[in-house]
This record gives sequence, C-alpha cells and structure tokens, in this order.
Amino acid sequence: MESFAYRSQVDEVQQEPSQISDAGGLRFSKKLCSKRMKFMFVVLLMAIMITILVVVLAVVLTRHQVPPQPYSSSSARLNGESSNCTQPPTLENGGVRHRFPMYFVNEDVPYTCTSGYKLVGSNTSVCDKSGLWRWKYQQKAPECKKICSAPPTLKQGTIQDQPPPVYLQSDRVQYQCNEGFHLDQSNSVTCQVNGSWTWETGHPPMCLKGCADPPLVRYATLINSTDQNRPFIAGDTVKYTCNDGYNFTHGHYVTCLSNGTWQGEGNKAPRCLQDIRPKSCLELLGAGYSQSKVYKIYPFGGAGFDIYCDQDTDDGGWDVIQRRLDGNQDFYLGWNNYVIGFGDPNDDYWIGLENIHRITTASPHELRIDLGDFLSLTRFAKYRYFQINSAATNYSLSVGGFSGNAGDGLRRLNGRPFSTYDRDNDGSSNTHCAVKYGGAWWYAACFSGASNLNGEYLRGAHDNKGGVAWLPWRSNYSLKTASMKIRRQSIV
Ligand SMILES: *[C@@H]1O[C@H](CO)[C@@H](O)[C@H](O)[C@H]1NC(C)=O
Ligand SMILES: *[C@@H]1O[C@H](CO)[C@@H](O)[C@H](O)[C@H]1NC(C)=O
Ligand SMILES: *[C@@H]1O[C@H](CO)[C@@H](O)[C@H](O)[C@H]1NC(C)=O
Ligand SMILES: *[C@@H]1O[C@H](CO)[C@@H](O)[C@H](O)[C@H]1NC(C)=O
Ligand SMILES: *[C@@H]1O[C@H](CO)[C@@H](O)[C@H](O)[C@H]1NC(C)=O
Ligand SMILES: *[C@@H]1O[C@H](CO)[C@@H](O)[C@H](O)[C@H]1NC(C)=O
Ligand SMILES: *[C@@H]1O[C@H](CO)[C@@H](O)[C@H](O)[C@H]1NC(C)=O
Ligand SMILES: *[C@@H]1O[C@H](CO)[C@@H](O)[C@H](O)[C@H]1NC(C)=O
Repeated sequence: MESFAYRSQVDEVQQEPSQISDAGGLRFSKKLCSKRMKFMFVVLLMAIMITILVVVLAVVLTRHQVPPQPYSSSSARLNGESSNCTQPPTLENGGVRHRFPMYFVNEDVPYTCTSGYKLVGSNTSVCDKSGLWRWKYQQKAPECKKICSAPPTLKQGTIQDQPPPVYLQSDRVQYQCNEGFHLDQSNSVTCQVNGSWTWETGHPPMCLKGCADPPLVRYATLINSTDQNRPFIAGDTVKYTCNDGYNFTHGHYVTCLSNGTWQGEGNKAPRCLQDIRPKSCLELLGAGYSQSKVYKIYPFGGAGFDIYCDQDTDDGGWDVIQRRLDGNQDFYLGWNNYVIGFGDPNDDYWIGLENIHRITTASPHELRIDLGDFLSLTRFAKYRYFQINSAATNYSLSVGGFSGNAGDGLRRLNGRPFSTYDRDNDGSSNTHCAVKYGGAWWYAACFSGASNLNGEYLRGAHDNKGGVAWLPWRSNYSLKTASMKIRRQSIV
C-alpha cells in the first residue's frame, strides 16, 4: 500500500510537482533527486575529463610520433600557444612534413622532398617569437634536387672521381680512359633537371687505343698534323715529305687506326725513292717506282718527255706509246702530228713515230696491245719483236712473234710504211685508206683482216667505217679501249 502510494506520489511529483501537499512525501522525493543528480554530474565530469585527456594525448602523440606521410594536416591540433607564426616557407618539389594552421614558437618544423628528390641544405625551419622563420642546423635554405640515374658508362673508361651515394641534378661526371687508351674529345657529362645525363659535346666521347710514334720512313721527314701535347689516337693522320732528291712512290700519309696501328694511304706504307733520270718505265720499275702513272723518261738524255708507265700489266715496265680511253683526243691528224706525237699522257695520246723509232732501234723491244670493248671484255696481242724504222722508210713496221688471245692484227701489215690523211703510202692506187677509215696506220691496201687502232672513236658496233678496230677479235666494232706499249726485251 505504502509502496503503491509512494509510486503514485512519485508519479504525481513527476507529473505535477506543484500540487504535492504531503510534506513527508515531498522531503523524501527531494532527497532522492539530489543524490541521483550528483552521481550523474560526477560521471559527466569524468567523461569530459577523459575525453580531454584522450584528445590531448592524441594531439601530443600525433605531434611527436611523426607519421610517414608528409603534408597531413591535423585539425585536432591545439593552438592554445597561439603565436605570430603562420605558414613556414614553401619548398619546390617538397615541403614541411606536416602542415598545421599555426605553429609554436621555437617548434622544429621538418622538411622533406617528394620521392625522386633529395633534400640539400637545412632540413628544419623554426619560428621565433617575432614570427620570423629561420633555418636550423644550417644557414642554407633547403633545396630538393632531382636524384639522377646512374651516369653512362664508357667503354675502356671509368669515372674519374669516387662516386657519391647518389648523383643529383647539375652534378658533373668526368671520365678517364684505361691504360693505353685516350679520349677523343671533351669527356664530361652533366645531370639535367629531368634526371637524365647529357654530354657536353652532345655525344659521348670514345676511349681510343693510342698509336705509338708514326713509323719511320727512310729518306722522309714527318710533318705532324696533330697537337704534339697529346698522344696519337685513332683518326690522327701524319704526313711525310721526301727529302731532297727523293720522290714518293706510295702515299704521303699514315693514319692511326682504332686497333693502335698505323695504316698507309691505300694500305701501303709511304716510301721515298731516290730521284732518277730513267730511260724507260722498265728502269723506273727497277728503281722501285711500281705505281702505274705518268712519269718523265729520258730515253735519249736531254729534256725527256712524259709518258704513261704501265707497271701492273704483265710484270709492268711498259712504255705506253698509244692509248685510246674515251675518245677525248682526235686521232684524225696529219703526218707531222704523228711524227712528233700528240695528246695527253694521262688520257688519250700518241707518243710519236720518231720517239718510237729511236727507242725501238736503240735496243730490241717487245710490243703489247691491250684491248677492251664496251662490255668490259679484254683481249691482248703481244709481239716478241717490234720496231719502227726510220723516217726514210716512212716509219715502216717490223713486227713478229705473236702471242695472245686477240688474234694477230699486225701480221698482214708487217713491213708497211705509215700513212696519214696527208701522206698516202697505203699501196692502193684507188683508195686513200687513211681518209676512208678516218685514221693513220701502216695501211696495206687498207686493213681488211688487220687493224686500225688510230681510227675514229665510234663507240661500239658500226657499219662500214674504220673505227678503233682489231678485226681478228671483232669486226664492224669500234673498241672502247686500246693501248700499245713497248718494253725492252729481257735478255734471256
Ligand atoms: C606578435 O608579434 C608582435 C610584434 O611583432 C608582438 O607584439 C606580439 O606580442 C606577438 N604575438 C604573439 C602571440 O606572440
Ligand atoms: C636534420 O638535420 C640534422 C642535422 O644535420 C640531423 O641531425 C637530423 O637527423 C635531420 N633530420 C631529419 C628528419 O632528417
Ligand atoms: C632531359 O632534358 C634534356 C635537356 O635538358 C633533354 O635533352 C632530354 O631529352 C631530357 N630527357 C628526358 C628523358 O626527358
Ligand atoms: C712528330 O711526332 C713525332 C712523334 O711524336 C715526334 O718525334 C716529332 O718530333 C714530331 N715532329 C714534329 C715536326 O712535330
Ligand atoms: C721526282 O719529283 C720531281 C719533282 O716533282 C719530278 O720532277 C721528277 O720527275 C720525279 N722523279 C720521278 C722518278 O718520279
Ligand atoms: C688493325 O686494323 C687493320 C684494319 O682493320 C688491320 O689491317 C690490321 O691487321 C690490324 N692490326 C692489328 C695489330 O690488329
Ligand atoms: C715516203 O712517203 C713519201 C710521201 O708519201 C713518198 O714520196 C716516198 O716514196 C715514201 N718513201 C718510202 C720509202 O716509201
Ligand atoms: C661490216 O662491215 C663490212 C665492211 O667493212 C660491211 O660490208 C658489212 O655489211 C658490215 N656488217 C654489218 C653486220 O654491219
């Protein structure tokens, strides 16, 4: 009953406290209420205090246990010690490890760089009381420098200095070559802002094998074309000059190769030979002048004359007395021209009947005729005996002892005098052979079955004219090349 009343009273109190009239019931109710309120207040207070403690602890922990990711902002940061220190200086390709709205005075604010960059200079900024930021540990402001890949390697070379733990942008690396090798150019490479390396000259240097001193050449003096203060390296060329009274036979230069050896022009070592006044190409050959070219010969002493020496064909030593190469020279010329000779010894020419006569009568000579067509086929005719007789015989031909694969195109002309368009000695009463066949030769009622090597340069197949003809090989065809060459008979 009481408990019921109590409950009803409490209900009443709760519903309508102002209408409670029972004094005892009211006292009881007031006492109960204050006890419960006190308890709840303490619990609330403790909860608040715990929350504050947790927050403070969290803040302290986040401030002092540095999380790995930079730039994380903490909104839960206390700013009770407010200061004039707002934001610390910024840093390109990096920044402060943690960004906060405000910073404490004298608080260490560490900096870091984004990945791929390395921090150089002070790593910490501190704000002083007046709100100014200064750098700690070092005066120097930090810089985030690009970390470079490994510098390029150089074959037969190494990097000059001890390498650092990492290479950074604008680092410069220099190379040196291994023993016996030498750099061919400037050797430095610099790391760019983008982390890649570029060579000072735009392309990598090379370590080239050095060459020893250039070879000594007898009777020659060296003219060095390279800087004397550095060793000879591949590509270097030195020039020689023959001493007075000596002439080159081979190249004037030698070049240092990448395998450390010297190579002469045309793969031949330079050679100086004593200058001589040769009587013939054969004599030049004997003295070592083994290159086929134009030389001056002095078969009768005196001033001498230029002649092409064939030092290659058939053991060399051939005086070339007639040559057709390209039709550059007109061969339809008169008697006097054929007597004294004409043309260019480097090209098409005729050495002259008088010269041939004097040479071939002074000592026995052999004759070789080399022929070529426009398909690059070649043939030759060789005569063991060849002589041109005196002007009194009109330079008649004496020839014999044929061999070769071109056929004998002279046998039928043996003993014939020479004819030109202005000196008709061809033995034909009704034909002027030199005129008809456009040449000058030892015509015998013209040249049927024989030859006409001084004929008109007609370039290959033709109909009814002379042309540069050697009929035993090809008829109705004007040859591309023809050359007549003589050499003193060897005494067997
Ligand atoms: C901010 O700086 C001014 C002077 O520069 C100073 O008077 C003031 O006390 C500073 N305030 C704080 C919170 O440090
Ligand atoms: C910053 O530099 C100082 C002095 O060089 C060094 O002792 C410290 O460990 C560095 N701090 C960081 C976070 O790299
Ligand atoms: C880096 O920069 C240099 C010039 O500064 C440039 O030549 C090179 O191509 C660049 N490399 C890359 C990988 O971007
Ligand atoms: C050329 O080089 C050689 C070898 O180094 C040296 O002996 C010589 O004196 C040099 N000659 C000149 C003219 O510089
Ligand atoms: C040697 O050279 C001189 C001058 O260049 C030249 O006159 C002479 O004919 C040459 N001698 C020989 C054999 O080549
Ligand atoms: C160097 O190279 C040249 C050309 O390649 C060659 O002819 C020569 O035999 C080489 N010499 C050596 C010693 O390897
Ligand atoms: C040489 O030629 C001339 C002119 O053609 C002639 O008069 C003379 O008889 C010839 N002599 C000989 C030996 O053939
Ligand atoms: C070759 O020349 C002769 C005259 O020398 C002529 O009679 C003949 O018809 C020519 N033959 C050809 C195929 O042109």
